[in-house]
Amino acid sequence: MRAQVGIVGAGPAGLLLSHLLERRGVRSIVLETRSRDHIEKRVRAGVLEQGTVDTLCAAGLGQRLVHEGMVHHGIELRFGGTAHRIAFEDLVPGRAITVYGQQEVVRDLVAARLAAGRPIVFDVSDVRLEGLESEHPAVLFVADGQEVRLECDFIAGCDGFHGVSRDAIPAGVLSVFERQFPFAWLGILAAVAPSTRELIYAQNPRGFALHSMRSPTVSRFYLQVEADDELANWPDDRIWRELRARLETVPGWTLTEGPVIEKSITAMRSYVAEPMQFGRLFLAGDAAHIVPPAGAKGLNLAVADVRVLAEALAGWFDAGTRDRLDGYSAARSRGVWRAQHFSSWMTTLLHTFRDDDAYARKLQQSHLEYLVRSRPAATSFAENYVGMETAST
Ligand code: FAD
Ligand code: PHB
Repeated sequence: MRAQVGIVGAGPAGLLLSHLLERRGVRSIVLETRSRDHIEKRVRAGVLEQGTVDTLCAAGLGQRLVHEGMVHHGIELRFGGTAHRIAFEDLVPGRAITVYGQQEVVRDLVAARLAAGRPIVFDVSDVRLEGLESEHPAVLFVADGQEVRLECDFIAGCDGFHGVSRDAIPAGVLSVFERQFPFAWLGILAAVAPSTRELIYAQNPRGFALHSMRSPTVSRFYLQVEADDELANWPDDRIWRELRARLETVPGWTLTEGPVIEKSITAMRSYVAEPMQFGRLFLAGDAAHIVPPAGAKGLNLAVADVRVLAEALAGWFDAGTRDRLDGYSAARSRGVWRAQHFSSWMTTLLHTFRDDDAYARKLQQSHLEYLVRSRPAATSFAENYVGMETAST
């Protein structure tokens, strides 16, 4: 097998990269360890920044997104028994977020790739990378019981945090920066109309809660839980009791309950590996960096990475110029670190730290109050939340 670019992983990063490259006439092959059904049903992110929406629309992927995505011009911060709206239309005019499930983005990307007659090789195993410093690196894998060797000019490691690409880089090359948070998120999908028009981020002494949504009939919730918590500890009635306790803190506001469709627990971690490249391997998305989801940045970062990487690769195939490829990691560094800071900051602002002293809690309270009282503070929050990266950066 041969391709100009071998793409490892069919998450948002790998699929969008293959699509952007295709539009520039660069042929790629995408390899994925899971099935099509699995990746199209995996419930994850939901908030798309303006730059992400613009990128998807400019790439011809906006049809369903524009119809079904829910454009939000603000979010609510709920703490101390009061609801506070951060109004994007006022603070960062012309910028908004779109609520559209990651699995919908993945479905749109898979459909576009298959419609273009370009395959995705699903259900592969034993994926290994070879010859990263040579001009002809290769991806070795097993498909349908057969050993396959995919020879490429470049490899894009888009295989998420637990993939193999990052580990194929020799020891000592990467600098790793990381922080583990002492709690996890229980994510819940429920077949019930949202009880709110906009997302609610609730700080509460019992722990953080988030009310999000997927459609006019499907709600998405998150609850801060113990780092080592298990789904068995969270029967549906306990989930609703806890959501009510953390969200029904504003007079007159009530939560509507419904059947739970799906639930899962996710660890909270910040992680960056730099540089995001070695020889002819380029890392993008969660393979290179992850953020705790409170800032809703992970998927957006993956999109911003492949936007830059696709241009750099296309430049090489068009004109033989390596400058943009060589500068890929440096070009992404500022955006990656802005998202790291904002995500960590938001996590610290909203979660309950068990071992915290009263002093730290007072600081958290003071910061929340400052944020909703000071226009400059709220503007800074809003510009980070809607995203500082645009489709042209
Ligand atoms: P992934 O989506 O992880 O895709 C990697 C793919 O590679 C997977 O399909 C995997 O099966 C495959 N793979 C793994 N190993 C191999 C291998 N060896 N060979 C081949 N394929 C392999 N981000 C936001 O922007 N906004 C949000 O609101 C948000 N909310 C989130 C909520 C939760 C609960 C979670 C868990 C995440 C959230 N994120 C959010 C983060 C976002 O989901 C990720 O950042 C995003 O999925 C990254 O995309 P990716 O393509 O880099 O990686
Ligand atoms: C989601 O809808 O899945 C979501 C929304 C906001 C976040 C994280 C996840 O900060």
